[in-house]
Amino acid sequence: MSDLQQSDLQQNASGTLPPDYFEKMYAANPDPWDFETSEYEAKKYAATIAALPKAQYRSAFEIGGSIGVLTEKLSSRCQSLLSIDVSQQAQARAKARCQHLPQVKFEVMQVPYEYPTHRFDLTLVSEVGYYWGRDDLPLAQQQIADHLEPGGHLLLVHWTPYVEEYPLTGDEVHEAFLQQVGTTYRTLLSQREERYRLDLLERL
Ligand SMILES: C[S@@+](CC[C@H](N)C(=O)[O-])C[C@H]1O[C@@H](n2cnc3c(N)ncnc32)[C@H](O)[C@@H]1O
Repeated sequence: MSDLQQSDLQQNASGTLPPDYFEKMYAANPDPWDFETSEYEAKKYAATIAALPKAQYRSAFEIGGSIGVLTEKLSSRCQSLLSIDVSQQAQARAKARCQHLPQVKFEVMQVPYEYPTHRFDLTLVSEVGYYWGRDDLPLAQQQIADHLEPGGHLLLVHWTPYVEEYPLTGDEVHEAFLQQVGTTYRTLLSQREERYRLDLLERL
């Protein structure tokens, strides 16, 4: 068996949705969640950016940047921004959208199996945590905490209604991070809207 097949099996066993799930989705529809046109997404993106306490971040990390709609908005608040995604197709569109933004870099990467080596002062986890399996969520939490500098911000934003195909709910993701409050983070902001929630944590 090739390494790729072996690692796919491990990922499936963990419950985390594999890259192929997303590649198929983007092949069928280049904007599967209507990020470019949805009024709901536009309002949520405005709330996401408004939640950031600092005017500028030195080095930000976006997990699951998709086709780059939120990436582009976030970039004005970052001296440098690394946006990663498991989908090559999505990232190709993000790169095209952000080509006028030299501070934005892209890499295809699957968290938590892969993670950048350096530390950030902002990590954005928007609409991606519920794709991790139950066993991978703690690994992702560890990677995120290990690569966030003291005083750095972790912004979590997730859809809360149940989705059958997703390994976790948005609430399960947020509650897991909130359990680290007191030891790893302090809470700066918690906001619950009709269909999503937003939590902003600061690394201790
Ligand atoms: C629903 S979109 C969210 C896009 C954007 N963050 C937003 O809030 O609009 C989720 C994206 O995460 C990517 N993704 C899913 N699991 C991932 C993982 N384990 N590591 C990195 N990216 C992942 C998918 O390919 C998809 O593009």
